[in-house]
Amino acid sequence: MKTITIDPVTRIEGHSKITIQLNDAGDVTDARFHVTQFRGFEKLVEGRPFQEMPAIMARICGICPVSHLIASAKACDQLLSIEIPPTAVMLRKIMNLAQMVQSHALSFFYLSSPDLLLGMDAPPDQRNVLGVLAANPELAQGGIAMRRFGQTIIEMLGGKRIHPGWIIPGGVSEPLTPEKREAILATIPAAREFMSKALVWFSGILDRYEDEIAHFANFPSLFMALVKPGKRLGMYDGALTVIDAEGREIDALENPRRYADMIGEAVEPDSYLKSPYYKPYGYPAGMFRVGPLARLNSVARCGTPLADKWLVRFQALPQEERWSSFHYHYARLIEMLYGVERIEALLNEPEILSTHVRAFAQPNSLEGVGISEAPRGTLLHHYKIGEDGRIKFANLIIATGNNNMAMNRGVLQAAREYIRGEEVRDGMLNRVEAVIRAFDPCLSCSTHAVGKMPLNVELRAPDGSLVRSITQG
Ligand code: MG
Ligand code: NI
Repeated sequence: MKTITIDPVTRIEGHSKITIQLNDAGDVTDARFHVTQFRGFEKLVEGRPFQEMPAIMARICGICPVSHLIASAKACDQLLSIEIPPTAVMLRKIMNLAQMVQSHALSFFYLSSPDLLLGMDAPPDQRNVLGVLAANPELAQGGIAMRRFGQTIIEMLGGKRIHPGWIIPGGVSEPLTPEKREAILATIPAAREFMSKALVWFSGILDRYEDEIAHFANFPSLFMALVKPGKRLGMYDGALTVIDAEGREIDALENPRRYADMIGEAVEPDSYLKSPYYKPYGYPAGMFRVGPLARLNSVARCGTPLADKWLVRFQALPQEERWSSFHYHYARLIEMLYGVERIEALLNEPEILSTHVRAFAQPNSLEGVGISEAPRGTLLHHYKIGEDGRIKFANLIIATGNNNMAMNRGVLQAAREYIRGEEVRDGMLNRVEAVIRAFDPCLSCSTHAVGKMPLNVELRAPDGSLVRSITQG
């Protein structure tokens, strides 16, 4: 028996390891994606005044602070028992979309496009954004520009790129100025044009990846996403919806406070990442996927013209292909185009410059649950407060955690397909890693890590004895 460890998984956000277990015949018997980090953010916030929660929660993760800000502020709005001003909703939506665009740009253009442009078997030292820059400068530069597009909008609205404190309980702290509105609108056409081109390019390379499409976490599963009336894509709000593998809606939750009826959280001994599952189906049968693939499998339309054209093409793929986690990439690109179009539409709303952007209230409810779609999928913040307004209980269900079971199953599927015996070529291992990259996990926030994430590596013999232990980071 031999264990192959890919450690740390490269080109994803945060640290982790993959362990592949071989038997004496050289066949894969097991494969696991481990996340090795303490949790504890939920304990840390107990006793804090709830008004501080959005700003504190934004510090959970340097990669997706905006997503946490939004889910947290939505939970706090419920503690105030208020409906926030419509302009504040639109402004929060713009920031949420900008976050989605910049995060997807990082995932696709920086982390995954090297595999797609240069090939899964390209030399490892070329499989990076510099390699893409050399092979296809337009794609690389456009991808970099898309990241900047999203980050600049976040900065303009929030004042700072990382941890903007602009989103607060009751709305947002500052209205949008006409100057900023014009500045953002001026960046829309180039972003829209580039994303359209990127989608043409991506859809044109798909026949080269038939094998990966077939084996990259490709299995029927449930999908979960926020869906708005008319089966429209909901990034900021909507009913928490579960569909089956054939696309039939099996559950839809209008009241976020009842989330525990829908989602259970299992704990696996070898990972700090919890494994949420669809509660009525039990564990592990209730495995579901979230994120771009889940969203675009769940909706009938995005609600913007160009993205909807691509959604039609995406949904015309055979059902078994739309089970493939390889198509997280396709869905990610369509969502980026949607984000650009939707930001433009929101900026053109007549009330977008209104200065009524914040409602003031005292706490009027002792419990609040905020759900939004983060780039990686459904994100939930649940708080309970005392009469003094201090946090008594916090639970977070993180987008990446929602995909934990599917990522593990996907790693095993890919390892069985690509790994034979102990002579393993780099390109084969890269495919196993690439499955994880398709999901775009954010380990930084899913494990509630603050700052650095030390990594412990253990190699264990078949009898369970420790052969070697390494700690880095
Ligand atoms: Mg939690
Ligand atoms: Ni994160």
